[in-house]
Amino acid sequence: MKSAMCVIGTGYVGLCTGVGFAEKGFKVICVGRTKEKIERINKGDPIIYEPVLEDSLKKVIKNGLFQATIDLKYAIENSNISFICVGTPSKHDGSIDLGDIRKAAEDIGKFMKTKKDYHIVVVKSTVVPETTDKIVIPSLEKTSGKKTGRDFGVCMNPEFLREGMALKDFLEPDRIVIGEYNKKSGDILENIYKIFNAPILRTNLKVAETIKYANNAFLATKISFANEIGNICKKLGIDTYDVFRGVGMDHRISPHFFNAGAGWGGSCFPKDVSALIAKSKELGYEPKLLEEVRELNKRQKVRIVEQLESKLGSLKDKKIALLGLSFKPNTDDIREASSIAIIEALKRKGAAIIAYDPQAIENMKQLFPDLIYTKTAQEALKGVDASVIITEWEEFKQLNENDFGLMKNRLIFEGRKVLDPNQIKDFEGICW
Ligand code: UDX
Repeated sequence: MKSAMCVIGTGYVGLCTGVGFAEKGFKVICVGRTKEKIERINKGDPIIYEPVLEDSLKKVIKNGLFQATIDLKYAIENSNISFICVGTPSKHDGSIDLGDIRKAAEDIGKFMKTKKDYHIVVVKSTVVPETTDKIVIPSLEKTSGKKTGRDFGVCMNPEFLREGMALKDFLEPDRIVIGEYNKKSGDILENIYKIFNAPILRTNLKVAETIKYANNAFLATKISFANEIGNICKKLGIDTYDVFRGVGMDHRISPHFFNAGAGWGGSCFPKDVSALIAKSKELGYEPKLLEEVRELNKRQKVRIVEQLESKLGSLKDKKIALLGLSFKPNTDDIREASSIAIIEALKRKGAAIIAYDPQAIENMKQLFPDLIYTKTAQEALKGVDASVIITEWEEFKQLNENDFGLMKNRLIFEGRKVLDPNQIKDFEGICW
């Protein structure tokens, strides 16, 4: 019989993990905190915007493999493995806030206390190295009164899900990393993942935690490197994408995550790079490369504002259309989006901002209620002094000469490689 699972957390990671395992035929109970949210999830509404997830959620609810609840006790009693998928936000100093992790572990321990069967607790949330050993395990032992390894198992199993592709990434991973407290825990988790048809790497808890950070820090560094070379290319008057086509052909390097542009954002890269910097300092090591990667990214996000200024002079009272507000396409998520830094800089300079995004307007309105938001890209372009594409939504690739003809002054900037030079004349890229 397949394992029954308890998934704690109903955000991107929790919901995709829960729905993903149910897609694979496991019985899943997802645990959240708010009744209203749980009711919506049980009706097939994932709440977050994530392509494919809604259809999948509806399917697994219908076939009886997925349910959501606020009752953790019920979920623990009716499962033999728990995945901790709660958030690990940044504190003001960039270090990680582990409050929800500690609370989840304490709560799980409380309900494991009376359980007879061997239960496995798996940390899936991104946690800085040593968290599972120093916070999760002591919390579980404290409230359960049980001994790790002997009475229950513990694993650390990082996720590598990209927003917008989260369910696909869950179901078709490059590899599965299992950090194990003891062999028995690792064997049970490996057995679950066997059907995923992906290489499985077994290691200890601390290594698994560090793999996740090294992975994201490397990808962020790779993009920042592409941006640095891109900035040099801009000075040389060449297209950095031509350069990286050649660089990416080296099998030691690979062409992925080399797209130069207006910097990286989202809920992971900025938070994870900062948390790794903070952890490393706590250990007495100054991570200068990572610090510069983070600084370069801050500068990269607003480069386009400098480029606008160099063409328009003062931006005071200039009408600027911003196309794309989410931190990347196919999501309504604006966390650490480059658009935020650009809006702040433009506001400081007194520009009038007209903004459009296919999905993220409602979220952006919470942060900046005073911008003009439009229902279409064309509406945003009408009568402006300049336009900037910040996110590479598919629909922006369809913009044509007529659309840009709506602008008062034809000055088009791209922060991502979107426009086709064979279709659109006279536009400028941030690094091309
Ligand atoms: C990332 C990781 O990819 C994923 O493995 C991890 O678990 C969570 O964090 P995500 O934040 O969803 O996923 O987005 P991702 O597709 O990685 O993009 C992050 C940012 O980098 C975006 O702002 C994107 O625009 C930017 N980016 C990405 C680039 O600027 N250039 C690239 O080549 C790729």
